[in-house]
Amino acid sequence: MIDLKNIPATKQDLDAYEVENIFHSWSYQPTQSPMRVVSSKGVRFVTEDGRERLDFSSCFVSHNIGHQDSRVVEAICEQAKALCAFAPNFSNKPRAVLAKILAEITPGDLSRSFISLGGTEANEAAVKICHQYTGRRKIIARYRSYHGGTATSMTLSAGDPRNWAQVLGGTEWVSVPQPYCYRCMFGQKYPECGLQCVKYVDEVIELEGGGEKMAGIIFEPVTGANGIIVPPPEYFPRLREVCDKWGVLMIADEVMSGFGRTGRWFAMDHWGVVPDIMTMAKGATCAYLPIGVTIARKHIGDRFKDQFFSHGATFAGHALCCAAAVRTIQIYQEDSLIENSEKMGKYLLDRAMELKDKHPCIGDVRGLGLFVGLELVKNRKTKEPIMPVAAKVLPGMNPKMEVAKKLAEMGMMAMAANPGNIIAMAPPLIIKKDEIDEGVAIMDKALEAADKYAEV
Ligand SMILES: Cc1ncc(COP(=O)(O)O)c(C=O)c1O
Repeated sequence: MIDLKNIPATKQDLDAYEVENIFHSWSYQPTQSPMRVVSSKGVRFVTEDGRERLDFSSCFVSHNIGHQDSRVVEAICEQAKALCAFAPNFSNKPRAVLAKILAEITPGDLSRSFISLGGTEANEAAVKICHQYTGRRKIIARYRSYHGGTATSMTLSAGDPRNWAQVLGGTEWVSVPQPYCYRCMFGQKYPECGLQCVKYVDEVIELEGGGEKMAGIIFEPVTGANGIIVPPPEYFPRLREVCDKWGVLMIADEVMSGFGRTGRWFAMDHWGVVPDIMTMAKGATCAYLPIGVTIARKHIGDRFKDQFFSHGATFAGHALCCAAAVRTIQIYQEDSLIENSEKMGKYLLDRAMELKDKHPCIGDVRGLGLFVGLELVKNRKTKEPIMPVAAKVLPGMNPKMEVAKKLAEMGMMAMAANPGNIIAMAPPLIIKKDEIDEGVAIMDKALEAADKYAEV
């Protein structure tokens, strides 16, 4: 056997391991190693070629507080010296403190958390809690959603090409349209539509067995990877009414939209609606360590004093991950990052609108906080997508990926490796005005790659 202390690690060796020994997420396996990152700081990262690059995606919308904040690194080191982890049936200080902080910052009486290791796990737990609490099986999910990569969460990610390989099924589910006003599936216009998308949910619940069979509805309050879809103001209040009518639980997946991304602590805060269960991950530790959180309202949590809570994991409430989350969440408050997200988000949206004026390939610009999407079209009038939105991820290049390639050549990363024709800009919440200008200028140039596909 190879000497494990002396693994060959030249650039060529590492490249070979990447190509031969790793399953890369959601992709055809590459024939060349992806760029290797050697360091990062604030809104920038450095690749092995020595080039400094601008992070306009916060690494899949997770590094909200920016890269390598020494305060979090120190908190992790301190906790590691004391206690990395212990069995979840024992308490540890960071877990208890984190649970209290989460109860404080989340809406309404959301108060009892199950702490896991990522967004997918958080959603799995949410669906299980929903089933156990209601005693019902069916869950409504929305097309153009992403809730994670495991059997249940992938099943609920209807209309995301990544669920093509999902053959196991999972929960019993029904899909409904999004409040996607740019491409309304009912062919209506807001506000004359009277929110047909909510009326539809009401009817689906009734036809699927009403309060006897329907357990919950899961949604991203502001849909992320599938299009930065921001619902109209009445959507969530009206959906709350429908859910209350049937006793259906609302599960808000705030994995991407949470922790200041939209200019509030949580996107649901924009509508003043309290979901029954909320899930979080990415921004909770900003990826310094993995975490997932499923938080439930008081009466739901209390139910499990009498009813067995049928869920768990060895690493649940991992002390090191919880310590990282506690310190990270304090930093949002300490550095007024939620406020900065709101302020800089408005600026970014304005600048993105200017891009629309210049580039025929942009059909729509939408966003909330530092979460702004550009939807690429072939024809602005007909809204024909710049490439067909295939159910299955197709190999090879497409106009959006050409833009992403140009961005990389110019030293910037935005969020383009998602389904559909949307390029999202979601920089860390510490971003400053001049850094936004820098990113928008790069985007301006890169979009020329897609303009050539647009009909003018
Ligand atoms: C809205 C949403 N939910 C769930 C997930 C899954 O989270 P994770 O990748 O941490 O498992 C993601 C990941 O991007 C997401 O965007």
